[in-house]
Amino acid sequence: MSLSAPVVFPDAVPTFTAGDVTIRAHRPGDVPGIVEQCADPLSVQWTTIPVPYDESMAVGWISEMVPDGWRTGDEHTFAIESTHPDGVRRFSGSLSLRDRGSRRSEVAFGAHPAVRGRGVMTAAVNLLLDYGFEGLGLETVVWYANAGNAGSRRVAWKTGFTFGGTMRAWLDHRGETTDAWVGTLHRLDTREPRAPWDLPTVR
Ligand SMILES: CC(C)(COP(=O)(O)OP(=O)(O)OC[C@H]1O[C@@H](n2cnc3c(N)ncnc32)[C@H](O)[C@@H]1OP(=O)(O)O)[C@@H](O)C(=O)NCCC(=O)NCCS
Repeated sequence: MSLSAPVVFPDAVPTFTAGDVTIRAHRPGDVPGIVEQCADPLSVQWTTIPVPYDESMAVGWISEMVPDGWRTGDEHTFAIESTHPDGVRRFSGSLSLRDRGSRRSEVAFGAHPAVRGRGVMTAAVNLLLDYGFEGLGLETVVWYANAGNAGSRRVAWKTGFTFGGTMRAWLDHRGETTDAWVGTLHRLDTREPRAPWDLPTVR
């Protein structure tokens, strides 16, 4: 079952803004920023992007895979736009909701290294969650991260996710299974930390 009726990319993809942060459909002009982000060590460490990553992959991703996700409803992927430290407003990362059926979805996100630590992803995730709960009628969103990914956990914590335990050997990471942190957010939850900040020990 897909999240919603087919959405024609890019024209029917909605745009949402909060302060300096906008989420919108990807554009060809985002390709250099996507390649920069995918070459960044933290992106390689914590996500499953192909390594090495080149321009043709970014072009294929925004011209085929992302539009397919919107058409089928399997994954609604947005580009993030914000002002970089050099004062220029441009591509700042990507994030998505992956359909898991029965009004459940999984959130995924990655920021361009130049904008990290400025609250950009927290704002973008909040916009995405509004879209998911209000626009798509989701009941629950789940967050997974490889155990140890403190930055990702911090974004989930700030946006109100309730953490479960560590799932042993759960996430596929380039052919290996890694332990996963998991959290869930219900549509009625407030978008604020549910408990004091805590970083579990990674075995
Ligand atoms: C995780 C990521 C998306 C966060 O993006 P961001 O734009 O920096 O997020 P924000 O600025 O909104 O919030 C990040 C928070 O994490 C904190 N943080 C970052 N790294 C941290 C770490 N190693 N330990 C503890 N906190 C950390 C920041 O201080 C900030 O918290 P604060 O605002 O309370 O100070 C970004 O680091 C990234 O792209 N990482 C690589 C890809 C990735 O891990 N994706 C998630 C896969 S599950």
